[in-house]
Amino acid sequence: MDLFEYQARDLFEKHGVPVLAGAVATTPDEAHAAALAIGGKVVVKAQVKVGGRGKAGGVKLAIDAADAREKAAAILGMDIKGHVVGKVMIAQAAPIEAEYYLAILLDRSNRTFLVMASVAGGMDIEQVARETPEKLAKVPVNSNHGISKLEALKIIQGAQFPADIAEQVADTLVLIWKVFVDEDATLVEINPLVKTSDGRIIALDGKVTLDDNAGFRHLDHEALVDQSATNPLEALAKAKDLNYVKLDGEVGIIGNGAGLVMSTLDVVAYAGEKFGGVKPANFLDIGGGASAQVMADGLSIILGDKDVKSVFVNVFGGITSCDAVANGIVQALEMLGEKATKPIVVRLDGNNVIEGRAILNRAAHPLIQQLDTMDGAAARAAELAAK
Ligand SMILES: Nc1ncnc2c1ncn2[C@@H]1O[C@H](COP(=O)(O)OP(=O)(O)OP(=O)(O)O)[C@@H](O)[C@H]1O
Ligand SMILES: [Mg+2]
Repeated sequence: MDLFEYQARDLFEKHGVPVLAGAVATTPDEAHAAALAIGGKVVVKAQVKVGGRGKAGGVKLAIDAADAREKAAAILGMDIKGHVVGKVMIAQAAPIEAEYYLAILLDRSNRTFLVMASVAGGMDIEQVARETPEKLAKVPVNSNHGISKLEALKIIQGAQFPADIAEQVADTLVLIWKVFVDEDATLVEINPLVKTSDGRIIALDGKVTLDDNAGFRHLDHEALVDQSATNPLEALAKAKDLNYVKLDGEVGIIGNGAGLVMSTLDVVAYAGEKFGGVKPANFLDIGGGASAQVMADGLSIILGDKDVKSVFVNVFGGITSCDAVANGIVQALEMLGEKATKPIVVRLDGNNVIEGRAILNRAAHPLIQQLDTMDGAAARAAELAAK
């Protein structure tokens, strides 16, 4: 999960990384109040998860609170590379003397962690890496040892930072290593890290990516999720522990096993071409051992998707036998009752398929149509969705 700048700022503050006063605002009035509380000149900064905000006009200096209100009004609602600005950060303005770059990231290709440091900060670091690579120091980190103050100093001196601030920058590096480890991040980047006219080193802009796989260790990270960007159906599915991804078609898909579901998407998209370009509406893998409850949860999410016109349940019985799945479908429809309204095409095959099909036939549910082959069922589901 990528964090907003203001969230990164808060994490920095929690770990003692030097930052300036800052507050988030969603309206010009809130921006005014935040600027008043901070006092003096402030910088109004668009909070979007995309780089190059400054160049796009999303970072503006305000001379006082009234000006901050105006600048916030101009920035809120702005479109920056397809991201609409819903929040701004009001940050105390710093008297900048120099801008540097400092980051720690997971370097997947070299299977290590990497410190990147440069005195050419503030600007596009990709450009520095491309055009003047000698100005960007890259030093791998031994994760067993971490970064001691001594190592941090060596890295910073190697990156040609001026001697009078090397100590402070090294301290900051040690602190962001702590952020990186303690928060289970895969990226902690400060650009710019500035030297102020009174000689202080401060993180003026932060980018942090947290490792979602470590989410179970950080229950507080849950609160950092940007709910406005999460698809509500995906959020619902996540709450039910379902492996669901919303797509933009009309045929709801349920299958067991990620591989089978992926090929089901292909087959439905292919069959849909004959019916005006009907496409799959989602990915949903209910895995092995699908109980009636899991089937009901999956069906209710898919039937709750207003884009879905028909549903295709494609199950290959392996460890889970087809009769168990068939019973699951029947019970799920009983649980859903009136809520089940869309035609459901079922294709069962594999372990205990004869009994599975017989169970569905006996149930004779008006919404269910059974087909024996995957291609045939995909074509029927596409046809029903096109009607
Ligand atoms: N609090 C501040 N006080 C003074 N100047 C600031 C402050 N915050 C940002 N700036 C100036 O604005 C420039 C751009 O800010 P920032 O790095 O936050 O945005 P950006 O680099 O355009 O965005 P991104 O990092 O998303 O690409 C900085 O390099 C700095 O010169
Ligand atoms: Mg920046």
